[in-house]
This record gives sequence, structure tokens and C-alpha cells, in this order.
Amino acid sequence: MLEVSGLQKKYKDKTVIDNMSFQMKQGEIIGLVGENGAGKSTLLQLLATVMRPTQGDIQLAGLSYRTDIKKIRQKIGYVPQDISIWDEFTVEENMLFFEKLSWKRRTREQCRQLCLDMQLTHWKEGVEFLSGGMKRKLNLAISLLHDPVLLLLDEPTVGIDLKSKTEIGAYLHNLAKNQGKMIMYTSHDMDEITNVCDRVYAIGKDPFYLDLLQKKAVEVEVIT
Ligand SMILES: Nc1ncnc2c1ncn2[C@@H]1O[C@H](COP(=O)(O)OP(=O)(O)OP(=O)(O)O)[C@@H](O)[C@H]1O
Ligand SMILES: [Mg+2]
Repeated sequence: MLEVSGLQKKYKDKTVIDNMSFQMKQGEIIGLVGENGAGKSTLLQLLATVMRPTQGDIQLAGLSYRTDIKKIRQKIGYVPQDISIWDEFTVEENMLFFEKLSWKRRTREQCRQLCLDMQLTHWKEGVEFLSGGMKRKLNLAISLLHDPVLLLLDEPTVGIDLKSKTEIGAYLHNLAKNQGKMIMYTSHDMDEITNVCDRVYAIGKDPFYLDLLQKKAVEVEVIT
């Protein structure tokens, strides 16, 4: 379970997230929507421990973000909005490199299988020669290496073709429903959000997303 209460984030004088509270249960996939600059990436960075909140509490599986950061990091998989992989290495080298940094051991074959699960077959290819969508698939595979309980995905499917997107969506669905993982992800593709997510949080006070998603019959709630 993830519990967020009274969360606030200020950048200098600018309050981006103000008094935000919500809970997420095991097995849930939650979509995060909102206009550019609404604070989606900021929220994911707070949940990923990349940044600290100005105020408020976050707890994951009973562990506090204030005192148990090290243990919490082992439980989190995070795909940032900006792709972060080694361009000068191959897919294989990237996977083996990040496997070494991970606290959970994976064999070469398991690393390869994770790439295949993300529909990425270019095992021996240099990352600089991959397309944008393929790099995102590699980022996704890396985020799964240590078998995290909470997956935070910031626009993970930008540039990914529709077939792969559908298959990755099904894979994430399976991770949540059969392994009890919690997945929160942002996307500007509302069809994808409504297909994959159990619930949606719309960040910000603009009613646009609330109105749009209510028409699509998915449970949507505004958080600020
Ligand atoms: N490091 C930073 N320093 C100062 N302001 C920032 C910083 N990062 C983000 N912001 C501001 O915080 C607000 C929220 O940004 P954020 O990146 O969280 O939005 P977003 O919802 O992810 O947008 P997008 O859909 O474009 O990715 C924006 O107004 C942005 O300018
Ligand atoms: Mg963003």
C-alpha cells in the first residue's frame, strides 16, 4: 500500500503540489493525467525519492519516506520522462550494467527475457542506433530488473508503436493483477489510460480531463 498525505512541493515560491492526499492498493494501476506543467513528473519524482517534498508524508508498505529511504528505493522502479540509458553501450551491456547496480541478481537470460517482454528484440544493438520507442522499451526493462513493488512510469510509451504499446499494457496489467504490483503512470494518450488503468487521478483544477474521462466511464478523481 502507498499512502500519501498532505503532500506539498514548492520550487522556490511556486507551489506545484499542494496538500495532496491519496492511497494506492496492491494490484492497482493508476493513471496520472493533466496539462503540461500540472505537476505529474514532480509527483512521480517525489514518489521515486528523487526529490524531497516541502511538506507531507509518504509511506510505502508501512515504511516511511522520512526514515526508510534505502529500503524504499529497493521497492521502487522508476522510468523518468527523459530517457536515461548509456548510448555508447549495447542493449545487452546496458541490461548487465544496471543488473550489477540492482540489489536483486538476474541471469543474462532473465535480462534478455525482460527486454523481450517489452517487445525489444535488439539485444546486441548499440543504443545510439535504436529508435526513440526502442530506447523507452529498454528503460522500461531496466526499471523491472529488481522486481519492484511500486512502478512509477513517466510517459513510458511516448513514441512506442501501437502494437507494442498494447502488448506492454497487457504485460503491466499482468504484473499488477497476478503479482500485486502497484503501477502509476502518466500519459497524454487517453485511450491508453482508459484501457490500462483501474483508476485515474487528474492533477490540477482544470475540469477538462475530469469531463473527458467521465465520458469514458473510468473512475476519475481530481487531486491537487
Ligand atoms: N526543477 C524545477 N525547478 C523549478 N520549477 C520546476 C522544476 N521542475 C518543474 N518545475 C515547474 O513545476 C511545474 C510542474 O512541472 P512538471 O514537470 O511536474 O509538470 P508535468 O505535469 O510533468 O508536465 P508535462 O506534461 O509537460 O510533462 C511546471 O510549472 C514546471 O515549470
Ligand atoms: Mg512531465
